[in-house]
Amino acid sequence: MAADWKQEYSVGHPILDEQHRGFFVLCKQAEACRKDRSHEGRQRFHGLLNELVLYAKRHFVTEESMLALHDYPLLEQHKAEHEVYHEKLTDFVLQATFGELDRDGLFDYLTEWWTRHILDSDMKYRDYLRTSKIS
Ligand SMILES: [Fe+2]
Ligand SMILES: [Fe+2]
Repeated sequence: MAADWKQEYSVGHPILDEQHRGFFVLCKQAEACRKDRSHEGRQRFHGLLNELVLYAKRHFVTEESMLALHDYPLLEQHKAEHEVYHEKLTDFVLQATFGELDRDGLFDYLTEWWTRHILDSDMKYRDYLRTSKIS
């Protein structure tokens, strides 16, 4: 079951919160056609998978630029986590293109990664941005 964005996920920045929220919306849409094995269902699911990759990419660019602007000390570590996610998603896309996509595995990974990353790593910059002089 795809999770919803919750207030406790707020990193205290409206644009980044909105992007995080948008991810959960996309995930819900993918879940709605998760069990649909028809040709249309597959195409729709594949489209959403690509969208999830692009959406994350755009979000990572926004988030990393914001952190760089504020000289966030853990930026490199944070970027590395985004990179791991991106590589894993690329594997899922390859799987979907050349074989049978493990949809359950994809969902488990997405839900697990986003909630853990937001609550742990993204949350670490929350207080930093709040106290940063130029924020
Ligand atoms: Fe992040
Ligand atoms: Fe994020």
